Amino acid sequence: MQPMIKVENLTKRYAGVTALNGVSFEVNRGEIVGFLGPNGAGKSTTMRILTGFIPASTGRATVAGCDVFDDSLEVRRHIGYMPENNPLYVDMRVSEYLKFRARLKDVPRSERRERVQEVMEKTGIADVQKRVIGQLSKGYRQRVGLADALLHEPDLLILDEPTIGLDPVQIRQVRELIKDLGKQHTILLSTHILPEVEMTCNRVIIIHHGKILASDTPENLRKLLHAGGVVNVEVRGPSAEVPGVLQAVPGVAAVKVTDGPVGLVHAAVEPQVDADPREAIYQAVVRSGWTLRELTRSRTTLEDIFVQVTRDEDEAEEDRRDQRRSVLR
Ligand SMILES: Nc1ncnc2c1ncn2[C@@H]1O[C@H](COP(=O)(O)OP(=O)(O)OP(=O)(O)O)[C@@H](O)[C@H]1O
Ligand SMILES: [Mg+2]
Repeated sequence: MQPMIKVENLTKRYAGVTALNGVSFEVNRGEIVGFLGPNGAGKSTTMRILTGFIPASTGRATVAGCDVFDDSLEVRRHIGYMPENNPLYVDMRVSEYLKFRARLKDVPRSERRERVQEVMEKTGIADVQKRVIGQLSKGYRQRVGLADALLHEPDLLILDEPTIGLDPVQIRQVRELIKDLGKQHTILLSTHILPEVEMTCNRVIIIHHGKILASDTPENLRKLLHAGGVVNVEVRGPSAEVPGVLQAVPGVAAVKVTDGPVGLVHAAVEPQVDADPREAIYQAVVRSGWTLRELTRSRTTLEDIFVQVTRDEDEAEEDRRDQRRSVLR
């Protein structure tokens, strides 16, 4: 089946700034994909190109098989877009605004009232439909933006930082809403908040300095980088013997001992890929006649992965720069 989004080697240069540098990725129908990257990574730029608001410098992108540049009207029919900062007409009332937007989006006159009612119910704003948008809380304004994006029944939702600036309760509500929308729509959302991706997305695309550094499920990314994370162990036993016994446990790749009070051994145990040596560690310690005081597994978080991936890239970039310098010398 044809992918919902196909991006091939996109480059975008603004005067003096390369915002995108050879970006390629695909999003399949039914996926909820999180576009993750720090400020200035190129998330909004990619989204603006996909929605036909700005042209790319080079490269190609299609949405539902239509070229975003040559066929932008057709592309917009497929996309519900909530831009960064969710610009709305703050002086209009909610239902009035949505009716106006429905007209702009060519929703047939006879269907408008029903569509507006439907999207308001879906996004939980029917109760505030007579309120002036400017007087709504941010969370509710965000919902109006989502309702707007849904008006013309698009297959694909492109949401640029949908939960930015919301309080924790509203964040949770909007995330739930997005997850729910994901049952019927393909979604590409951007964020620089890591837990957001873990909670709502089936796949993550990490972008940094206009380049894609990784694209996988949160689960696989975790496996890729340091498998299951480290197991922290604390044993009351002789510091000369404990590390050797831990090292000999099946499934253990490495043991790093850290200083602790006299009589106690702290160790960070790195498991082999796909191994979980916790029970074997417990048994080995007991067999040796020592006492186990702690046995915890620290999960690699997406945050660890993100920091690692972007640091690797920054270091590689520095190496390249050093090489260029030494060539010039
Ligand atoms: N209209 C513009 N003119 C010049 N440079 C721009 C323009 N828009 C974006 N840029 C630059 O392009 C780069 C990518 O910006 P972009 O807005 O796509 O990042 P982002 O990932 O969305 O960041 P944020 O998380 O801050 O929203 C940045 O260096 C930015 O300064
Ligand atoms: Mg942005």
